[in-house]
Amino acid sequence: MEIIFEKKIVNKIKADAFLFLCYEDKKLFNDELKLIEKLLDCRISNVGLEDFSGQKNQTVLIYTGTSRIILSGLGMKNDLTLERVRKATARGIKKTRTLKINKIAIEILQDQTLEGVEIEDIARAQTISSILALYSFDKYYTKKNRKESSGVKEIMLFSQSNSLAKYSKEIEKGIYTGCVIGESTNFARDLGNEPSNVIYPESLALLVSKRQKERKYSVEILDKAKLTRLKMGGVLEVARGSSREPRFLILKYKGGRSNDKPVVLVGKGVTFDSGGISIKPSAGMAMMKVDMGGGAAVIGVFEAISQLDLKMNVIGLIPCVENMPSGNSFKPGDVIKAYNGMTIEVDNTDAEGRLILADALSYASKYNPKYVIDMATLTGAAVVAIGNVSSIVMGNDQKLIDKIVKAGEQTYDRAWQLPLWDEYDKMIDSEIADVKNSGTSRQAGTILGGMFLKRFIGNYPWAHIDIAATAMRDSESDYDPKNATGAGVRLVTQFLINESK
Ligand code: BES
Ligand code: MN
Ligand code: ZN
Repeated sequence: MEIIFEKKIVNKIKADAFLFLCYEDKKLFNDELKLIEKLLDCRISNVGLEDFSGQKNQTVLIYTGTSRIILSGLGMKNDLTLERVRKATARGIKKTRTLKINKIAIEILQDQTLEGVEIEDIARAQTISSILALYSFDKYYTKKNRKESSGVKEIMLFSQSNSLAKYSKEIEKGIYTGCVIGESTNFARDLGNEPSNVIYPESLALLVSKRQKERKYSVEILDKAKLTRLKMGGVLEVARGSSREPRFLILKYKGGRSNDKPVVLVGKGVTFDSGGISIKPSAGMAMMKVDMGGGAAVIGVFEAISQLDLKMNVIGLIPCVENMPSGNSFKPGDVIKAYNGMTIEVDNTDAEGRLILADALSYASKYNPKYVIDMATLTGAAVVAIGNVSSIVMGNDQKLIDKIVKAGEQTYDRAWQLPLWDEYDKMIDSEIADVKNSGTSRQAGTILGGMFLKRFIGNYPWAHIDIAATAMRDSESDYDPKNATGAGVRLVTQFLINESK
């Protein structure tokens, strides 16, 4: 997708459609319409305005003699937020679906009333939401030009007056950052949406290591023999039932000084989670191809930070397995040994994510990390607790958690905290091993996932982000598509941007 800042005045811009954002406030609404009519030398009919008054969920497509005008509502000005701008832009650009629109010109919202929000942030927000909203995964349709997808290839951001020309540097910077983060999120979505017969541990490892040629990060792959030598019991045991061998990916980005402690990102890379012997019901099982969403998010973050040239060191650890039932599978009741030597009673083979993360989190210690942040589609209980609206964050360091929550609010790839109180700890005690991989009751499922991981962390500040609720969706919403969403990419990239300042 090509996105540029178009400095020409509006009536000189050549585009198949123009998208304007409108406030609901009567006067502002009327002023905007008058301006559009003047700029594009057209009349917006009263019929069009019967269907549109600038309310926050409204959009309308209007045909003038020579062009298409899309109006998208922002709601009332006094409760405007950056997220409203993202949503209005996304809804407006989605109107291009099924239409013959190649080039679209989008008005940059000129608004100085949002506290702490610069024009660069607005350009970035509108860029990101456009790229995210136009996403579709249609490579497996053999019929060309799927009707439901948008044909937009070129986006121009423009301002209705010359007053933004002096900010063109800032706007271009916002567009660049927005493109990088938007495309990196879409990359993670692609990885999630790829079926598990295409993306499995070995193929994912190959795909990621090919990125080294284009990007400024390196990839090391630990194969089964190496994992056996390292005694990564969690990864090896979960992988045992599958004909696909496990892989452990190590990504390295060196943007900082050589002695700067790295941030270590860990991502759950279960390329398909059938549940194993504790098999899942078949309804909805197909979505479990997205159970590597945490790993995909880590890869997406590396794609982003390496293009943004962040001045810091970051390590990515992605244990990759397929969880399958077979005669070789690990079984409920088995006792396995994790990388750090601790024993685990496997109560439920469907609680597999925490087993592979146990290895990765203890392995992380060797990097002497500044922070460790893991992302995982860990518990169905997270979906019950918070719905598709936010991820859940837990950890052992309140300052780190606060920073993650803040990055979530900035990007609206949000995370909300749950506690890891001592009282929960005994719920995962085992009668036969050091720890059990699931609770005895159905209580506090998401927290117990966090409590389990907590037993395996080293001596470092750590946050666990459960993205089970956000990484995959049953229906689309604004700039999030159905299926894989790339949750976590915008959140953790923003966290790292904040950290690098
Ligand atoms: N990958 C699932 C969690 C999941 C469920 C993610 C739905 C996204 C949507 C995970 O491996 C799992 O099966 N967790 C179990 C844990 C339980 C057995 C303790 C769960 O949530 O039921
Ligand atoms: Mn599972
Ligand atoms: Zn899983």
